[in-house]
Formats: sequence, structure tokens, C-alpha cells
Amino acid sequence: MGHLQNRNIIIGVTGGIAAYKIAETIRLLRKSGAAVRVIMSRGAQAFMTPLTLQSLSGNPVHTDLLDETAEMGMGHIELARWADAYLIAPATADTLARLAMGRADDLLTTTALATPAPLFVAPAMNQQMWSNTATQANMRILEERGITVLGPGHGTQACGDIGAGRLAEPEEMSAALEDFFPSRELAGKRVVITAGPTLEAIDPVRFVSNHSSGKMGFALAQAAAEAGADTVLVAGPVTLATPPNVRRVDVQSAEEMLAACLAQLATPSHLFIGSAAVADYRPVVAANQKIKKSGESLQLELVRNPDIIAAVATMSPRPVKVIGFAAETEHMVDHAQAKRKAKGLDVIVANDVSRKDIGFDSDSNAVTWIDGSGAESIPMTSKKNLARILVSRCAQLFAEGEDDDLPQTGRESGGIGH
Ligand code: PMT
Repeated sequence: MGHLQNRNIIIGVTGGIAAYKIAETIRLLRKSGAAVRVIMSRGAQAFMTPLTLQSLSGNPVHTDLLDETAEMGMGHIELARWADAYLIAPATADTLARLAMGRADDLLTTTALATPAPLFVAPAMNQQMWSNTATQANMRILEERGITVLGPGHGTQACGDIGAGRLAEPEEMSAALEDFFPSRELAGKRVVITAGPTLEAIDPVRFVSNHSSGKMGFALAQAAAEAGADTVLVAGPVTLATPPNVRRVDVQSAEEMLAACLAQLATPSHLFIGSAAVADYRPVVAANQKIKKSGESLQLELVRNPDIIAAVATMSPRPVKVIGFAAETEHMVDHAQAKRKAKGLDVIVANDVSRKDIGFDSDSNAVTWIDGSGAESIPMTSKKNLARILVSRCAQLFAEGEDDDLPQTGRESGGIGH
């Protein structure tokens, strides 16, 4: 997903036999697009040469706090400010103790105090040292400060013991940093997302609606904003907090949602995602006063609501990509594919809403991504994580397509983005 592209990572290496794993960790981080600078403690240099890690990181290795030459280049404070993340691996028991105490008696610990970047530690030591109450107390202190602990793993150790204390694998450390940073795959893109139910008034106190909580759509808005998109969220009536860096427009009914979407899309947009559960019908008239109880039955006449996403997909100029959701209870893929075609959508995300553990109002979801070339299942995961996966897939549509230029308002957009 490219979350590490152009991120600055410092790796602090301390003295342990597991230091050899850092070579591979640096290689993985650089492969993912990160810039890496290495700090080595004196102990670490007994296990690996700075020259090795300099070659792998492509940058001079920092070893001394009081190094005049290094301070003339990138000084320790500048180094601390440069970092987007600081990973200390392997972190020995002594290093963890010194971090817990807030010591600053070498470059590695000073940088830990001086950096505003998030700190990750990957402990590695003999299993007895790891389980010692002193080490465990230090770990509690570090975790209470919000430091992320990676590992340690369990298994056979260099000393022959078996237990917990093995350094996390390079792939785990690289993945943890990758997961920590949101991707910027939608930087420079404008995205409009609908979420939640619509509420169709019967009278001032009653309405027609559905079970949508808005969680899926809000998670999508959060993921899009984290991916760098200029994100607008058109939300039906829900009780969720607006995600950071998202502009929210609140609406009640389908007609209001349509008007809000068209107003937002008057500014040409790259992506429209319709995850809202729009009521297909509304009462023909919403009574001005509360309808009085009379008789054994009440006839409510409903009229079809406008189809918001179909209107968006056929507007001119049209958002470059239009993605719908399909809530289905049977023949999910066939019904969703038919909806995709009928509404003129690039992709439809099919959701089995007959299940209680996914779909409406749950924190998790499992969906099927359906485009012109077929259907692909995305297994159950949290809505937040699913949103990141879906947003990344949407970004791939732009990466693959040559048609991500925005149409101009007032210009005929024929041929753009289908
Ligand atoms: O909000 P949550 O509790 O998190 O639940 C998430 C969800 C189940 C609501 C979501 O994942 C989902 O499936 N959303 C689509 C719900 C829906 O209305 O599906 P549909 O098959 O009826 O509609 C197909 C598409 O047309 C959807 O993109 C819908 O937004 C759109 N539509 C439908 C009717 C209408 N009048 N206008 C529309 O734009």
C-alpha cells in the first residue's frame, strides 16, 4: 500500500546477538520506500560493523553523542527531528531499563528523549532476563508512555534456552511500521462519500428508515482522509463523531442527500463512494402535524426516491470513478453485478446483510468487490481495516487508469472515467 513511501525511520541498534536481523529489516524498510538512518550503541558495534549498516541504509551510521564531525553534518537534535518513527531493535534489557528511567547518556537514548516521533521497541534477551520482574516493570512503564512494543517472539534462543525473548522477525517489524502510517495514495484527490441511513418523515414524530449505523461510510471517510484525499462525507442521521480532516454535511432524507451530493460534486471530484443505505421510498406527503390514531389500520402511500448514485454516475461532468455498495440477502454477486451495470458504476461492493455479524450496525464486515472483470471476496475484518483495503483498491483504479484527470466544470465530459 506504500505507507512507508518517503517516511524517515531511525533504527537504534543495541548490543545483542539478534542485531544481525537488522540488516534485513533495513532492506525491507528501504524497499517499501522509507529513508533509514541507523544509530548503533557501543555494544551493537561488537556484533556488527557500522560499515555494514551504512551500506544497507545508504546513510552514515551515527554512533557518538559527542562527535564533532557528525554534529557538523546532522546533529543529534536534527536527527531526532528528522524521524517520522524511531525503532530500537534489538532492545536489550539494559536499554529498556535506561529508556524507562529517561536516561540520556548516549546518542541512542538521547535521541529517544529528543524525538517527537513515535517510539517502537523490539526487545531481545535471554528468557529469564525477559521474565524478570525488573524487566517487566520497565516494560509496563514504557507501554504506559505509549511506546509500541514489538515481540518478543518465543522459541529456542542463542544461549540454548527455550522461551520468550527472541527478537521479532524483520517482516514483523517492517509490517508494524507499515501499518502505523496511513498511506497517501489519494493525495491530491477529491472524494465524496455517503454514509448512514436516510430518514423519510411520515409526520413530525415518525419516519421510514433502516438499520444503517454509518460505521462503514465513516470508516471509509477516515481511510480516505488518512490516505491524503480532500474528503467530504455526506451523512444521514447517525450518532458518530466526524473523523479528523473530513468535512461533513449532515442530511436527513434521500432528497436532501441527493441535493448535498450534487452541490459537493459541482466541484469536480475524482471519486464518489455511495455507502449510504438510501431509503428507496418515502411517504408521498409528510404530514405537518402528528397523525392521530384512528381505526385499526393506516394506509401509508410511498413514492420512489431519486436514485442518488445513478444520478451521480450519469451527471456531467461525472466523478472519475463511482463506487457503489449493494446490500443483498440472496444471490449476492448476481444481484450486485446487475445493480452495478444498471446504475453505471465502475465498481460495486456487495454486502451480505442477512448475516448478523457483518453488514448493518456491526463493527466488522466482509464484502465482495465486483467490477467489469469479475468478483473478488474480501474476508471478514473490522470496518476500519476494510475501509483501508477498499480505499487502497480505489486508489489502484487511478494508479492503473490513465483517466484520472479531473473533468472541468461546464465542459462536456463524454468519455471520462468509465
Ligand atoms: O452503516 P453500517 O451500519 O455500517 O452498514 C453498512 C451498510 C450495510 C449500510 C453498507 O455496507 C451498504 O451495504 N450500503 C449500501 C446499502 C444500500 O442501500 O444498498 P442498495 O443495494 O439498496 O443500493 C445500491 C447502491 O445504490 C448503494 O450504493 C446505495 O447507496 C445507492 N442508492 C440506493 C438507493 C437510492 N435511492 N439511491 C442510491 O444512491
